[in-house]
Amino acid sequence: MSKNFTIALLPGDGIGPEVIHEAVKVLRVLEENQGLKLTLDYLSVGGAAYEKEGHPLPENTLDMAQKADSVLLGAVGGPKWEKIDFSLRPERALLGLRSNLNLYANLRPAKIFPALVNASSLKRELVENLDILVVRELTGGIYFGEPRGVETLADGTRKGFNTLVYTEEEIKRIGRVAFEVARKRSKKVVSVDKANVLEVTGLWREVMTELHKEYPDVALDHMYVDNCAMQLIRAPKQFDVIVTTNMFGDILSDEASMLTGSIGMLPSASLGRGTAMYEPIHGSAPDIAGKGLANPLATILSIGMMFKYSFDQEKMSIKIESAVESVLNQGFRTRDIMSEGMIEVSTQEMGDEVIAELEKQLI
Ligand code: IPM
Ligand code: MG
Repeated sequence: MSKNFTIALLPGDGIGPEVIHEAVKVLRVLEENQGLKLTLDYLSVGGAAYEKEGHPLPENTLDMAQKADSVLLGAVGGPKWEKIDFSLRPERALLGLRSNLNLYANLRPAKIFPALVNASSLKRELVENLDILVVRELTGGIYFGEPRGVETLADGTRKGFNTLVYTEEEIKRIGRVAFEVARKRSKKVVSVDKANVLEVTGLWREVMTELHKEYPDVALDHMYVDNCAMQLIRAPKQFDVIVTTNMFGDILSDEASMLTGSIGMLPSASLGRGTAMYEPIHGSAPDIAGKGLANPLATILSIGMMFKYSFDQEKMSIKIESAVESVLNQGFRTRDIMSEGMIEVSTQEMGDEVIAELEKQLI
C-alpha cells in the first residue's frame, strides 16, 4: 500500500484551530517515524469560511476534500453566526460535507480510559471498562428530509416542519455497517427506533430484522429511543454496538460521551464509499476558544481512527490510543477532565505529552 497520503485539514471555528494544531503535531511525528509522506492541505470551513469567502463550505474546500485521501475537521459554529440565514450557518458546512462525500456511516465510540473512571458522571462500577460504539446514520433522516421549512399560514401565524424519511436501502446500508463492525467486537447490536409511534422507524425495525438473517452470528435487539436513553445511564455496559437514525444518534452519542468523563475525549469517523472524514465529537466551544483550555485528545484519537479506517494501519491507531492512555495515567489533564491531585496542562502541553509518549512507542 502507498505511504503517500493527502489529508484535507479543516480547522473551522472556536477551539477547532487549536485542537487541529495539536493533531498536526502528532501527524508530523508519525510521518517522521513511519516513513510516511503526508501532504496537509489547510482549507477554510464554517464561520471562518463565511467571513473570508461568504460561504461556510466554499467550492474549493469541498473539491479538495473530495480529492483528499482523508479529511480531518476541527469544529464549526459560534454565537457570531447564529442570526444569519440557515443556508449560510457554519453547521451547513458540516451537513454539506457529509452529504456531498456521501458519509452515511458515523462511528462514535464511547470508550472509557481507566484513568478517567472518576471523571464519569456515573458510579465507577457502572462505567469501568465501558466500550460502546454508536453507529449513527448520517446522510438521511430528519436532517435531510424534504419538505422542510417555515411557512406563514393564512391567519398570519407560522408553521415549521421537517420530514423524517428513510428508504429501505438507506436502512440496509447502515445496518450492514453495524453488523460488520459488531463482528469485530462482541457481536451484539441494539437497533434503536421509535417504532411504536413513527411509521418510518417501524420500517427501520422491519428492515433491520430482515437484514439480521444475513448475520446469524451477531445478536440483534431492538429498543425504543426513550428506553435507550434511560438504559444508557442505568446500565450502560449492556450495550456494545448501537445502530440508529441520524437524530437519535446525535442525541444518544452525546449522552454516551458523558459516561466516559468528557465530550472532549471522543473521536469519530464518518465513512462512505470514498474519502472519509474524521472529527472530534465536541463542538467549537467558543467560550474557551483561544485560551489553551481545549482538550485536544478527541482530535488526536480521531487521527487514530483515520489510520485504522482510511489508511488500513490499525497498529498505528492502537499506538495513538495507548500514548493517550499513558499520558492520562501519568496524571496529565486538561481543564475539562481535571480532578484533585492531577496535573493541569494546556492544550499545547497536552499535545506535547502525547507526542513524547508516541515517540517512545515508535522507537
Ligand atoms: C454533531 C453535531 C452536528 C449534528 C451539528 C453541529 C450540525 O451536533 O456532529 O453531533 O447535529 O450532527
Ligand atoms: Mg451532536
